[in-house]
Amino acid sequence: MKIPLLDLKEQYAGLREELLEAAKRVMDSGAFINGPEGRAFEAEFASAMGAPHCAGVSNGTDAIELSLKACGVGPGHEVAVPAFTFIATASAVCSIGARPLFVDIDEKTFAIDPAALKRNLTRKTKAVIPVHLFGWPADMDAILEAARPAGLKVVEDCAQAHGALYKGRGVGGFGDAGAFSFYPTKNMGALGDAGAIVTRDAELHQAVLSLRDAGRSPGERYIHAVPGRNARLDELQAAFLRVKLKRLAEWNVARERAASVYRKELAGLPLGLPPENSGGTRHVYHLFVVRSKRRDELAARLLKADIHTALYYPVPLHRQPAFRDYGLQEGAFPVSERACREVLALPMYPELGEERARRVAGEIRRFYSS
Ligand SMILES: Cc1ncc(COP(=O)(O)O)c(C=O)c1O
Repeated sequence: MKIPLLDLKEQYAGLREELLEAAKRVMDSGAFINGPEGRAFEAEFASAMGAPHCAGVSNGTDAIELSLKACGVGPGHEVAVPAFTFIATASAVCSIGARPLFVDIDEKTFAIDPAALKRNLTRKTKAVIPVHLFGWPADMDAILEAARPAGLKVVEDCAQAHGALYKGRGVGGFGDAGAFSFYPTKNMGALGDAGAIVTRDAELHQAVLSLRDAGRSPGERYIHAVPGRNARLDELQAAFLRVKLKRLAEWNVARERAASVYRKELAGLPLGLPPENSGGTRHVYHLFVVRSKRRDELAARLLKADIHTALYYPVPLHRQPAFRDYGLQEGAFPVSERACREVLALPMYPELGEERARRVAGEIRRFYSS
């Protein structure tokens, strides 16, 4: 039987009635933008993430863009980003006229390497975006230690880490802002595009509220303090997200359960496994990514058994056609490049269950023993 990388239909089946009820509530209300669902969701998500403020936005890319803009980053500035992440981390920097400063990653966390960050800063570097990749928190203490003395703003990319904890506290609450994506495949996904920005900074929050909404001055309809964007979260998505938020904690536990099966069954094989929880730092397994020197062979073997895997990410950002003009050659960021050659995401979603995880692991064991 097929084991997909992820399966959104299984989750939807369990939520169908509640989601339809939420959609009906919005349609009956006649309020589709800037309404009560959005406000309720923002309060609920802020509280779940342990942050005082939350602004719903249109998607995760815009969440990064607006956070940077609200931090005062713009043309002429550089923003440090890891060379190994989804491209949105860097393209959001370009959208505000700033330039991504690529930095290599840490071998163990897949996040930006704090020592390399320190070494690579220039006078133009205004901010850094640590990415909590695959659901494992970046080493925020070390990153803040590199960033703060240099006066950098810190925008956490939390697109893959809803509910992850760093030393007992929720990600998104360490830097100036935390940018979340609710792309449908995320640990908590909308039924379309959506995102959010959490922050402890009331002023930054106000700036984001204006930027996402045509740059409106507070309480005004046709007075605009800044040239803003239309980057709002709509009421339908907010209502769906309120249904999903109630399940996030149990879904993360279900992911953890499947991950423990993988860990147990894959122990002792020549594979790199994700970092383990310790000292209050918690993985939420957006993806369960292993590293293998025989990655492509292993993926092909799993596919033959109808087990579907994926490469996150096959090409580092500095080697993407989008950044060809930067002139960065192969070898510029060796840890990121090696990760691109070795990573393989195994099936992972809350409904995967222990039995299917065991079957995947069994096939991997057979691959290595043959
Ligand atoms: C690490 C990372 N950053 C940013 C984003 C952008 O989010 P969105 O697709 O909602 O714009 C994503 C997801 O797609 C992501 O995985």
